[in-house]
Amino acid sequence: MKRGIQPTSVERFMREDDFIVSKTSAKGIITYGNPIFIEFSGYSEDELLGSQHNIVRHPDMPRAAFKLVWETIEAGKEFFGYVKNMAKDGSFYWVFTHITPDFDSRRNIVGYTSVRRCPKREAVGKIEPVYRQMLAAERAAGPRDAIAAGTKVLVDLLQQTGMSYEELVFSL
Ligand SMILES: Cc1cc2nc3c(=O)[nH]c(=O)nc-3n(C[C@H](O)[C@H](O)[C@H](O)COP(=O)(O)O)c2cc1C
Repeated sequence: MKRGIQPTSVERFMREDDFIVSKTSAKGIITYGNPIFIEFSGYSEDELLGSQHNIVRHPDMPRAAFKLVWETIEAGKEFFGYVKNMAKDGSFYWVFTHITPDFDSRRNIVGYTSVRRCPKREAVGKIEPVYRQMLAAERAAGPRDAIAAGTKVLVDLLQQTGMSYEELVFSL
């Protein structure tokens, strides 16, 4: 698994017409990955299916970002955002992701679907320092208070700009 993978400075770039698609159970266990996901993640389909989606988590991503993801999608809403992911060989790739809940006929959440597109480079350049600040606050706060500290950086930024998180994402 990803434990022990050394992140490298090698970046891989999504092509304009690529879509990285994956589906998970309600608990975030991967149940489907399209060929482009397999290509970018560097894992085989066998390795991906049944794994937690944090298999491609990059250590540069703040924990508070994923808290926001889960809060949003568990509330039955769609999530948009920029994510830095890590492949099996330690290289990284930025994505613009859209995650939606999958419902049964009674509107119970039975899983999630994520479709990722090539991010705007300008947007990556703007979100990267925000994530860096969030991560620094999380590290300074220590494990127990990390998420609160990372969230505060984001909330303060949103307050300064007067935007919601989604408005911020689409303004980048
Ligand atoms: C449909 C779906 C797609 C996800 N895609 C990613 C992804 O591409 N990269 C990622 O790091 N986390 C992704 N996550 C979030 C992970 O489940 C997890 O919360 C995150 O990697 C943080 O892991 P950790 O809590 O073990 O640190 C996704 C979750 C869902 C439900």
